[in-house]
Amino acid sequence: MLLPSLYALHADGLIAKDLRIFGTARSGLNDAEYRDMIGEALHEFLPEERKNAADIAQFLERLFYQPLDASKTEGFADLAEKLGDISSGMSIFLSTAPFLFEPTIKGLQSAGLAGDNVRIGLEKPLGNDFASSTEINDAVAAAFPEDRIFRIDHYLGKETVQNILALRFANMMFEPLWNAGGIDHVQITVSEVVGLEGRHGFYDDTGALRDMVQNHMLQLLAITAMEPPANYDATAIRDEKVKVLRSLRALDPAEVVTGQYEAGAVNGAAVEGYLTDLGDQSNTETFVALKAHVDNWRWQGVPFYLRTGKRLAERRSEVVIQFKDVPHSIFGDRSGKPIANRLVIRLQPEEYVRLQVMAKEPGLDRDGIVLREVPLDLSLTQAFASARRRIAYERLLLDLIEGDQTLFVRRDEVEAQWSWVDAIRKIWSDHAVAPKSYGAGSWGPSAAIALTERDGVSWHE
Ligand code: BG6
Repeated sequence: MLLPSLYALHADGLIAKDLRIFGTARSGLNDAEYRDMIGEALHEFLPEERKNAADIAQFLERLFYQPLDASKTEGFADLAEKLGDISSGMSIFLSTAPFLFEPTIKGLQSAGLAGDNVRIGLEKPLGNDFASSTEINDAVAAAFPEDRIFRIDHYLGKETVQNILALRFANMMFEPLWNAGGIDHVQITVSEVVGLEGRHGFYDDTGALRDMVQNHMLQLLAITAMEPPANYDATAIRDEKVKVLRSLRALDPAEVVTGQYEAGAVNGAAVEGYLTDLGDQSNTETFVALKAHVDNWRWQGVPFYLRTGKRLAERRSEVVIQFKDVPHSIFGDRSGKPIANRLVIRLQPEEYVRLQVMAKEPGLDRDGIVLREVPLDLSLTQAFASARRRIAYERLLLDLIEGDQTLFVRRDEVEAQWSWVDAIRKIWSDHAVAPKSYGAGSWGPSAAIALTERDGVSWHE
């Protein structure tokens, strides 16, 4: 994700000619070896149409490498020497194990690499509960003020996630109905077909709630539920999101369902169950469905159903707004009851906005008109066919380099997210909740279906 994104910014002329990129990790590489490694990877993984040998060669000249053991302060002086003059500014992208944040920040500080012209981007995981995330945030705050900290949630870099803001706040027609008066409930689904993808240790320590709900899904919820900000800037947007996150009601144990996949078939291919993939016993959830409530005036009585999981029936991220029934139908029995409007905002794999509306079926209808539900379809892929879809990190790395925090998560947001998630995990430990099994390739355990059905709601298929 990272170097292809930087390469794209380079190839499109979006970064300064003299911008240099330094990699640092424990491996004992030199510049030439690093360039070779990255060059090979770019040639192997870039899509054919993005590959340009001259651009790649030029890009590689921007790259440098310095081996560093971040747990030891000494190495940072060598890093500083290698970096040379950073008076024109520097952006750090820090992706490391939780226990290395503090020594890394100390090391940066000791080597004069945390000055006023240095920004720091932080990749997840930033802790695994409120307490550990506070430790990391405190460690970083010891050297960097909040306006130089860029916490990454890559969902915010997705074009279609930003498009929810455009849809809501650049159109008149949705917002007057976007509340408990017009909306029955909201569904947010982020389903994946992939399993562990080799991340055994990390995933088993984390689970779906912390891997997906704490960050990406709560950000989607906040963007869907927030009040209109006064303008599109970092403070205004994040102020509104944090209000939503702080309005989340503590969940009732009956409102959360967890699951773990068993063997099954995904896209027609047989796959193993989680425990076999893991090679161990585990109670880690690979699926979560829950019913969240935003306790404020706008959303009183409107459930937000969230579900996410690995090895589900299909890869899909979407927000579904289910509007209320019309207050009274003027059409007779033959027409049937009008089906309430539904707005589907599909984020991936396809990008579209689809509004289900009722229309009259063509015909002479001598006994009364016949109603039919039909989609008003906006395919964003087609509408913007000539625009290349950038991966989220292109946007986020450019914003980090340019210092725009709008699409980064502020500390108070992270804290509100963790408080809510910690309370759910406490329920699980207090009630010794074990995940229910579901077959790989399904839509999760049957209890997830029951969660909505007892409210008379079906998950959007
Ligand atoms: C990551 C999670 O944050 O998001 C992964 O750690 C998950 O487990 C991924 O697969 C999903 O991102 P995307 O962009 O593929 O929807």
